[in-house]
Amino acid sequence: MLLTGPEGLKALTAAYETGHALPGFVAYNLESVQGIVAAAEAHPGRPVLIQAGSSPFKHAGREPLMRLALDAAAHSDAPLGVHLDHSRDLDEITACLEAGYTSVMVDGSHLPFPENIALTREAVRRVRDHGAWVEAELGALAGDEDVSTNASASVNVMTDPSQAAEFVAETSVDALAVAVGNVHGFTAAPVRLDLNRLAAIHSAVPVPLVLHGASGLPEEQLLGALSRGVAKVNVNAELRRAYLRAVSARLPAALPGSDAVGLWSAGRDAVTEAASRIITRLTPSPTS
Ligand code: 13P
Repeated sequence: MLLTGPEGLKALTAAYETGHALPGFVAYNLESVQGIVAAAEAHPGRPVLIQAGSSPFKHAGREPLMRLALDAAAHSDAPLGVHLDHSRDLDEITACLEAGYTSVMVDGSHLPFPENIALTREAVRRVRDHGAWVEAELGALAGDEDVSTNASASVNVMTDPSQAAEFVAETSVDALAVAVGNVHGFTAAPVRLDLNRLAAIHSAVPVPLVLHGASGLPEEQLLGALSRGVAKVNVNAELRRAYLRAVSARLPAALPGSDAVGLWSAGRDAVTEAASRIITRLTPSPTS
């Protein structure tokens, strides 16, 4: 079922209060949407976000991917939010809200501080009109959203705790994405988060924090983040890698019979497996 905005925000708040996190999985196409939904259905009662956002729109087209994600969520028994990830475009934000998105991430992280505040404020105004909830970002992450580039956190603009407090007070966002050593995509050397900085941001800011770039993050780093206010964790490369590995393993058997369906199904099932592993790491079983 498609969560309403308030239900999604309630799930985020519950995760924040219990030291867990909502998984936000990036979806590009039919198989990734289906894979994510199947993973959510395999873990009843654990809310999951399908992040059909700006970058995937460049591949699939906004209208088809938006409709696909919303429709898949509406026809599932699992509690699913549909989230616009990394949008710099107010028209895109409005279009997704009007279509029924339950949350958006306005990304002004590339802008100077006052301009980031101005863009975020306008996004918050539009989001409130639609009863959805909103995430913004302060600081900037290295790496590419669609390809792992072995990014280095040394080029991150780290989030400053006191600026984060001012940003949240000025914008009234519901959640804040932070740069604390996290990067988009896989890296050759394991990522080490600046957990002291994260703890300082958590103390300074009264809203849940969001960790982008969670693919490949060592377990103890992830647990460190969950105990310091991170209540939403974004995952993309890990699902892409699972999909590609499954598809490439299947390809030799699929080619002779042009078995495209077998190939796509293998990719979809691999997304389900990878997303399932992440759901169990981030969220408690409703009975526990
Ligand atoms: P990863 O590709 O590192 O999982 O990052 C995903 C992300 O942050 C999407 O917003």
